[in-house]
Amino acid sequence: MEFNTTTTDAPRIRTGCLVAGVFEGRDATPAYQALDAASGGKLDAIARKSRFRGDAGKHLQVHALDGVTADSVLIVGCGPKKEAMTAARYLKIAGAAARATAGTGARSAAWSLGEIDVADRDMEWKSRVAVERLGDAAYHFDAMRSDPGKDRTPPPGRTSIAAPRRHREAAAAGIATGQAIAAGVSLARDLGNLPGNVCTPSHLADQARALAARHGKVTFKALDEARMKRLGMGSLLSVARGSRQPPRLIVLEYRGAPRSHAPIVLVGKGVTFDSGGISIKPSATMDEMKFDMCGAASVIGAMESCATLELPLNVVALAPACENLPDGNASKPGDIVTTMAGRTVEVLNTDAEGRLILCDALTYAERYKPDVVIDVATLTGACVIALGAHASGLFSNHQPLADALLAAGEHAGDRAWQMPLWDEYAEQLKSNFADVANIGGREAGAVTAASFLAKFASGQRWAHLDVAGTAWRSGKEKGATGRPVGLLCQYLLDRTRAADRTPAPAA
Ligand code: BES
Ligand code: MN
Ligand code: ZN
Repeated sequence: MEFNTTTTDAPRIRTGCLVAGVFEGRDATPAYQALDAASGGKLDAIARKSRFRGDAGKHLQVHALDGVTADSVLIVGCGPKKEAMTAARYLKIAGAAARATAGTGARSAAWSLGEIDVADRDMEWKSRVAVERLGDAAYHFDAMRSDPGKDRTPPPGRTSIAAPRRHREAAAAGIATGQAIAAGVSLARDLGNLPGNVCTPSHLADQARALAARHGKVTFKALDEARMKRLGMGSLLSVARGSRQPPRLIVLEYRGAPRSHAPIVLVGKGVTFDSGGISIKPSATMDEMKFDMCGAASVIGAMESCATLELPLNVVALAPACENLPDGNASKPGDIVTTMAGRTVEVLNTDAEGRLILCDALTYAERYKPDVVIDVATLTGACVIALGAHASGLFSNHQPLADALLAAGEHAGDRAWQMPLWDEYAEQLKSNFADVANIGGREAGAVTAASFLAKFASGQRWAHLDVAGTAWRSGKEKGATGRPVGLLCQYLLDRTRAADRTPAPAA
């Protein structure tokens, strides 16, 4: 999809589908007003007769309006004009407008929703949101179909973002940022949606290698089983034991700043299929456990965006990748493994495997002397119960980092919500036989999982995002969402702005 900016007045924009907003009670926006006037009152008359009221997210497409150059106008309800337009409402409207636009079949589109004032947001943000949501709406996964593209409406190939002359540069900047983020989101969705028999640990590694080949500032390596053994990653290796697929620890390093700048290390859970292992899961929705590598996909996706934007930061993405399957060699409940940190873990449930691979990756992360470490994992069903699909669970041992991630999620429309990490919860992880157990009982499952990870991140400024409820959708719309690539990218962007203000430390 291509994007450009336009300063042409709405009635004279030459396009297949012109998107214009209207508030509740058909209270006009400037574009709606101009289009209605140009059509001699036709637009509003049609909207009225169609009983279009302007409820947030509702839409109506009107074709061949006299006096209007565009082939069609897609009017999009914006909700009440009197109440403040929050970023959250704007995101909902933009998402609905993007989906409607993608569904029209128009070959080109123009987007005038950037004229709507949004509390605390500028033109750059609004144009970026348009690009991201259009990218999301146009996304289709048909890599595994024999007839890709059949029976679906192609999205518009080009979209013009309307902006007044004084905001044209901001709109263009928003387009560039939005396209880079959309590319990362789309990559994360593709990796997530691929089935477990294709998206194996080695496939994930191949995709990461390909990413590095596309970007000059990114280098790739992958640790194999032998290397993991030498490093003492007994915990990661114990999860991979039951599978024929060899595990990998994928490493992507992005160098956008001098070597002296401590990197931001992102760690993503890459369980390419989680059957539960010997503590096997019920079969009903087990297919969805191909999404158990969405954490890894999101850190790889964020790397794609970061490298495309050439951010002035150093960023490392680590993705421990393996399958969790039962076989004669699989680890068993009661087995005790030794982590790279030297701590022993009693594996009371082989289905609590995410933490077993992440703990060794967190220890490995220490060698980068990171500024901060952020792990992303589809870690617990308990987090889905706690927060549903609306927010990722956030845990941190460093409040400024937690605050920065919460703010980034809020800004990007990819929210997180902080949960506690009090010592009391860690009590639940006591083992009669080893230093720690890998499960903490039924209560507060998302918190005890995070508490387990916290033990392996104690010397670091660390945060954990449990994305079990946000990384994919179930049911009819089943598929990877690409979350939290938006949050991660926003955090990285915010860090570059902070760096602009703080002079680099003297060498
Ligand atoms: N990958 C799952 C978490 C998960 C489950 C995400 C369902 C989304 C939907 C994880 O490895 C897991 O199995 N966790 C267990 C932990 C339990 C055994 C303590 C869970 O949440 O049931
Ligand atoms: Mn599991
Ligand atoms: Zn899992």
